[in-house]
Amino acid sequence: MLGTVLVIWGMLTAAVVLGQQQQWDQSPLEHAWSPPYYPSPLGGRRVQDDDKWRQSFERAREFVADLSLLEKVNVTSGIGWMQGKCVGNTGDLPRLNQPGLCLQDGPLGVRFADFITGFPAGITAGSTFNKDLIYDRAAEIAKQHRGKGIDVMLGPCTGPVGTKALGGRIWEGFGADPYLQGIAGALSVEGIQDQGVMANAKHYIANEQEHFRQTAEWQGYNFTDLKGQLSSNVDDRTLHEIYAWPFADMIHSNVGSIMCSYNKINNSLGCQNSYVLNKIAKDEMGFEGFMLSDWNAQQSGVASILAGLDMNLPGDEMGQGTGYMASNLTTMVMNGTVPEWRLNDMAVRIMAAYYYVGVDVKREEIGEPNFYSWSHNTTDALYAIDPENSPYGVVNEHVNVETEESRDVAHRVALEGIVLLKNENCTLPINPQSQSIRQLSVLGLGAAASPQGPNCPSDQGCSEGVMASGWGSGAVDFPFLKIPLDEIARRAIDEGVNVNWNFETTPSEPYEKAATYSDVNVVFGLSDSGEGYINVDGTMGDRNNASLWHNADQMIKRAAELNSNNIVVITSPGPVNLERWIDHPNITAVIFTTPGGQYTGQAIAEVLFGDHNPSGRLPFTIAKNDDDYIPIVRDVPEDGLPQDNFDEGIYVDYRLFDKLGKTPRYEFGYGLSYSQWKFSNLQVSQVKKPSKTLPPPKSLGSGYKDIDSNLPDPSECVFPEDFDRVNPLFQYPWVNTTEQLEPHGEYPYPDGYSTEQPTSYLPAGGGPGGHPQLFENVYKVKAQLTNKGPYDGGYVAQLYVGYPESNEYPTPPRQLRGFDKVDLASGESDTVEFDLRWKDLSVWDTNSQTWIIQPGTYKIYVGSSSRTCELVASINI
Ligand code: NOJ
Repeated sequence: MLGTVLVIWGMLTAAVVLGQQQQWDQSPLEHAWSPPYYPSPLGGRRVQDDDKWRQSFERAREFVADLSLLEKVNVTSGIGWMQGKCVGNTGDLPRLNQPGLCLQDGPLGVRFADFITGFPAGITAGSTFNKDLIYDRAAEIAKQHRGKGIDVMLGPCTGPVGTKALGGRIWEGFGADPYLQGIAGALSVEGIQDQGVMANAKHYIANEQEHFRQTAEWQGYNFTDLKGQLSSNVDDRTLHEIYAWPFADMIHSNVGSIMCSYNKINNSLGCQNSYVLNKIAKDEMGFEGFMLSDWNAQQSGVASILAGLDMNLPGDEMGQGTGYMASNLTTMVMNGTVPEWRLNDMAVRIMAAYYYVGVDVKREEIGEPNFYSWSHNTTDALYAIDPENSPYGVVNEHVNVETEESRDVAHRVALEGIVLLKNENCTLPINPQSQSIRQLSVLGLGAAASPQGPNCPSDQGCSEGVMASGWGSGAVDFPFLKIPLDEIARRAIDEGVNVNWNFETTPSEPYEKAATYSDVNVVFGLSDSGEGYINVDGTMGDRNNASLWHNADQMIKRAAELNSNNIVVITSPGPVNLERWIDHPNITAVIFTTPGGQYTGQAIAEVLFGDHNPSGRLPFTIAKNDDDYIPIVRDVPEDGLPQDNFDEGIYVDYRLFDKLGKTPRYEFGYGLSYSQWKFSNLQVSQVKKPSKTLPPPKSLGSGYKDIDSNLPDPSECVFPEDFDRVNPLFQYPWVNTTEQLEPHGEYPYPDGYSTEQPTSYLPAGGGPGGHPQLFENVYKVKAQLTNKGPYDGGYVAQLYVGYPESNEYPTPPRQLRGFDKVDLASGESDTVEFDLRWKDLSVWDTNSQTWIIQPGTYKIYVGSSSRTCELVASINI
């Protein structure tokens, strides 16, 4: 079956659609377009100056030149859902004794595996604002993937960016700011790939909510009128400055693969949108690796491949046995619909990234995957999709990949990700002696062990106890889980304190007694979210509101009515509404943590008792009013095609609050410390005079030579006689008959289709991540930071830039453009340093289709949050 060619590229003209809550004076959506862009740029064009990439492409070309058409098809195609050990498996090359690639989730650790570490989520790593720790976390996760024999780790996740506070998967990324996502994403790519495991940057692009991301999934939730995936309608400037920005940084760090997303972008599907795949990723941002589909996100054959998709996963429509590549790709190339060079390019890109990262070296050391995604049994069906007809064998070797180092890093991220929101009269840290605490009560379900254990049925799709992970493919099976009650009790008992607890969710006599007769209550409240395929208590991925679950608001308020000293602990994947109790005088302290992984309980106890001075910062804004957040699109319109208009444009998270002059409860970057800190002595020095425009990129060169054509005789594409298929659903490169390979009339190529490769770079292109000058440092900023309080600890210094006022390129009052974390003993000082890159001062100019720096005065703010900027300086450009 050939995929339908439907590159629906919508130019949304004058689409001034009012957001549900916000009135936009000026919608940017007249620039929301996805015009056709062909052909798909060849990999290996821009690598003349980079020996490692050049050599990887040379090896890849040599390797691919030796492959038959069917072997090339196997390199690019998944073998089908649950047909191999990993969540994604590509075809083997038996002649070369080379197994296909194993691709496995994901961003929090090795999914579906035993003897691994359950790391804190990306958003918790983001909350640490600690670059070394972000790198170390990624490296430790990748080492475990490597130890399990995985080739491609499906992370980091920087999409969703976090535009929607209630978005189900915002916890997988690093926080609601493209700069934070970009720096953390790039460090994670480096941490992962330094271990010989390929990173996968996902989900490209504008994948901000779960509702309607896929059609069948949501029809299954009774949205029977749904006819197609949600379209994220986003203007060109916003696409560059917010959504593509983190991907540019990850490409600059040489990420080997990118996952295109389920949603449409401007009404063209994420995995067949030639504008975002061919143009922005492969041409403008110079992406040399390969583009793989999210699971079942490929919805056409030829159209997707021409638009720049290089690999189809899992290879069929989630166990249906019908797919868009494998045998269909053989057909497309044999009948000439997809040019042979495109298939060569797909295979070469995959193999070049493979050599670039050193996956071959890892394979020599570790061998094939030694774990099994589909069961923890030692022996099981080898083809889990069809266990009845499958041979059995050893599937799990139960290799322990957890190390002291990985535990230490997981623990440190959990600790450093905790944010102290409120601390009246030094309630925290708890000091039983000096505070005369003899009795402590732990209240709220969020402190408890779930009756379903640490790993409820699958992928953490439950929420009956401590929240240490969101749910979905980004979750892992915890090897153990430190429970807050146990850890707090242990710590308190050691200091001679009596401990009571109550986890009821409606006020009862025992709850009230426990709340009343203690010297201090530690009251937990949680909320949870996850990926769209799991529905937890009516939450289908995206949260339904910003309230706490399990009646926690009422329980917290009741405790505050009964006792004068209540410390609230919130565990949540994103912002929650704190307004019902935050100002209550008996709520003396509040700490907040995003999913903290297996050390969640321990980290919370250590912060409460002062073993660790909190240094986390909010990676998003907590509003006072839920209507201040960008809403989730929850309704299907009459035509069945939901539209998500990004009317807010570049004004995402704190940018919007600042623009509209709305006061949040706690702003992006906010977080207290047990100590007191002082910034002084701001210095800004020019490293290189920034030009206002980018010079023309250097010439493209003729880096690429195509591989000689080697189309086989059609008879060689037919299943060999007496071939024994492992099961009817398994994806093979062969077809049933030669007739299947014949052309069936003219193929309706999309508008703008061409096979002429460009001879020059785009104005914003020329290097990994875009024009090389974008990544050059132009200013160095330094400031002095002093720990003036009684506690040792870490502190995050943040740099925001205010651009010159402009009608042509209006910008938010402040945008994060640097962060640094330092550890200082009480009384110590140190210098914090930030590098401002050319790109950090630029805006995307839609007319010239490149970045520019506007002349004028730029404000440089250094301080403690997006609203507390203790130091300010100006530079004139
Ligand atoms: C779908 C998810 O969106 C993606 O993040 C994940 O990597 C794949 N499933 C594979 O599990």
